[in-house]
Amino acid sequence: MIFITLEGIDGSGKTTIAKMLKDSMTQKGFKVLLTREPGGEPLAEKIRHMILDHESQPTHWTETLLYIAARKQHLDKIIVPALKSGTLVICDRFMDSTSAYQGHARNIGMADVDEVQNIVLGSTKPDLTIFFDITPNEAQARLINRKRAVDRIEKEKSNFHNAVYEGYQILISEHSDRIKVVDARKTIQEVLTQVEFLVENTINERINRKNAR
Ligand code: TMP
Repeated sequence: MIFITLEGIDGSGKTTIAKMLKDSMTQKGFKVLLTREPGGEPLAEKIRHMILDHESQPTHWTETLLYIAARKQHLDKIIVPALKSGTLVICDRFMDSTSAYQGHARNIGMADVDEVQNIVLGSTKPDLTIFFDITPNEAQARLINRKRAVDRIEKEKSNFHNAVYEGYQILISEHSDRIKVVDARKTIQEVLTQVEFLVENTINERINRKNAR
C-alpha cells in the first residue's frame, strides 16, 4: 500500500494532524497504521528513550546511528509487513529527520547520512513526504505553550533549530517530486485539508498507474 511520512521542525504541529489524518482515512475505508520515529516498535522505543534522555551524551555519529538503528528495526518489523498487508502507513518522522537534524544541523554531512541510510533502508522509501512549514521562531513560541517537558533534542539552542529548518529546505529542493510542503501556520482544519488533498492525490496517482499497466 502507500507509505506517507510527516516531517517538520519541533513544534510544527505534525503530530496533531497525524492523528486527525489517521481518523479521516480510516473513515474513508482504508486500513491505516499511524506510527512514529524514533520508536514505533518495542526495541525502537527503547532506543528512543536512550537517545532523548537528558543524561545521554552521544557523539554526533552515535546519535545518528541510534536513530538509524531504531529506524531499521521499525521498518523491518512493523512498516514493511504493514505495507505488504495492504495498510496505508503514516509515519510521524522518518529518514528525512536524520538528514536534516544529524546530517545538516549536527554537521555530519547529508551525503554521508544518505549513504548509510540507503544501505540500511534499502528500497523502502516513502511514496509521499509532507513537510509542515513553520519558521523556527513560530515553532519555538508553540513549544513554550506546550505542557509536556522538552526532550534532549528540543532543548537545543535556536541556531540548531534554524539549521534543521535549513536542512529541510535543501531536502525539499532535492526531492521536490516526493516532498510536498504545507503551510503549518494555518488553522488545524486548513492544514488537515491541505494534507488530505496531497494524500488523496498520491493514492489516485497510484491507482491510475496500476490501471495503465
Ligand atoms: P518527536 O518529538 O517528533 O517525537 O522526535 C523526537 C526528537 O528527535 C525531535 O526533536 C526530532 C529528533 N529526531 C532527530 O534528531 N533525528 C531523527 O532521525 C528523528 C526521527 C528525530
